[in-house]
Amino acid sequence: MKPVSIIFVISVAFIFNFLFLNGCDRADEPAGYEFRSDLINQHLEADVDYRERYRPQYHFTPRIHWMNDPNGLVYFNGEYHLFYQYNPFGSRWGYMSWGHAVSPDMLHWEHRPVAIPYGKEQEEGIFSGSAVVDHENTSGFGDGSIPPLVAVYTSHYTRNDGSTWQAQSLAYSTDGGTTFTKYDGNPVLEFDDPDFRDPNVSWIDEMGRWLMVVALPTQHKVQFYASDNLIDWEFLSDFGPAGATGGIWECPDLFKLPVNGDPDNQKWVLHVDLNPGSVAGGSGSQYFVGEWTGSHFIPESPAEGEGPLWVDYGTDFYAAITWNNIPEEDGRRLWVGWSNNWSYANVIPTDPWRSMQSIPRSLHLENIGGEVRLVQRPVQELQTLRRNHVQLSGLTIPGESRLAMDEHGISGAAYELLLVLDPADAETFGFKVRTGENEETVITYDNENEILKLDRTRSGETGFSEHFPGSYEAPVSLEDGKLRLHLYVDWSSVELFVNDGKTVLTTRIFPDPESTGIVLYSKGGEAVVDQLDFWELASVWEQQ
Ligand code: FRU
Repeated sequence: MKPVSIIFVISVAFIFNFLFLNGCDRADEPAGYEFRSDLINQHLEADVDYRERYRPQYHFTPRIHWMNDPNGLVYFNGEYHLFYQYNPFGSRWGYMSWGHAVSPDMLHWEHRPVAIPYGKEQEEGIFSGSAVVDHENTSGFGDGSIPPLVAVYTSHYTRNDGSTWQAQSLAYSTDGGTTFTKYDGNPVLEFDDPDFRDPNVSWIDEMGRWLMVVALPTQHKVQFYASDNLIDWEFLSDFGPAGATGGIWECPDLFKLPVNGDPDNQKWVLHVDLNPGSVAGGSGSQYFVGEWTGSHFIPESPAEGEGPLWVDYGTDFYAAITWNNIPEEDGRRLWVGWSNNWSYANVIPTDPWRSMQSIPRSLHLENIGGEVRLVQRPVQELQTLRRNHVQLSGLTIPGESRLAMDEHGISGAAYELLLVLDPADAETFGFKVRTGENEETVITYDNENEILKLDRTRSGETGFSEHFPGSYEAPVSLEDGKLRLHLYVDWSSVELFVNDGKTVLTTRIFPDPESTGIVLYSKGGEAVVDQLDFWELASVWEQQ
């Protein structure tokens, strides 16, 4: 090749790497931060009161600094563990480490020291992954007291010339997750692609082995590997490209669920995320339903020619993984997702922390119109936060009118709202939340076109990124002529579960703290509120 062509190829490769492999605006980091091992746990000392502007009151946030994906979700000895992508040194992405918190109920969290810090000697970023309880000590990491907790994560190595490569590594804890030791044979799994990440490991009874699903982001593929000891991995198969491929693939998860609760009819869900190119723009989440043969994933949905299946139609639900080791008597499949979007993640206007996790949700498969679909429901633990119940029924919203709800004692900045709505004669109807002077987040149902819209263009502070303001849509049919909405509003978020969790929209908003109004409205004719239940939700931080 001529030198000019070489330069051209290198430049194109660099630009491609910058734009796509690193996921939008991540590549400019960690400039500006200094690695200081003495400051790794400064979050535990920081002076925060959880009342800062936009601070979520019942969602998990780090006390200070940057967070992205949930990692290593595992239940162990009566505690839910949440590890997460964390920069211990600042509020933008960088020096990736695993932060850590534990909770008895997935709501009230105790912050812990950083579990697996960035490895300065090898310039090793501790990227996303999972954690398992090795009950039988298959890894040999146990010391005979309690089973070892084994974290399987991606080592993101930076070479001296600045180039990077990724491989899968292990760290284990023999004290229930308090301290971790990196395995000295790391990495345990390499592949011939510099982008190879987000290992998700679980024990598969049918195989009697550990199974790993891991992403080849730029190839729009996931790979499956099996192991007897978490150290030696055997390649089984790969899956993809399929579904949505408009961006890189990250953070896969594979799990089994009964269809309509029937234990004799189980299907497998392969969840894999996309950045950018998702349904609401930027990063988002898709899934496939099918069979796991013990070596291969055989997709059944989406069918040939059908569009991708979206987990969430909002902008801010990414990198979700499910909890491992939930006791059989509980039996739920639970997850949280990172409530942010790589299109603007590094500039959302919160300080001294950045990003939150979604509310915890339980996952279900349901047969909807002959198709097996993923359904998400808020976990019942959230009900313990309910305060000051207000109930209304049979309320008519006349056409071309707006009903402010504060006269019924219904307003706030952190609450839960359940609505059963009957469109009656309305063409479009819905409600507005976090309303104030010049601000509103609008949820509209378009009866004719069967579309639900969430509009945050006037939701408050939106100008920090051109990618932030927008209106997002999901196809939604009425059920028995009704629209059932279950809404969670927090100081800077809206999570909307439609028709008992069949459709979900999650978005961040940054309204004025004084914008606490709720308004119902209808156009083209009257609509009826069959039932409305409202609860303020208590802060999980005050109660600690
Ligand atoms: C997803 C992701 C993962 C990666 C991690 C790095 O948001 O890009 O693929 O492991 O973030 O922080």
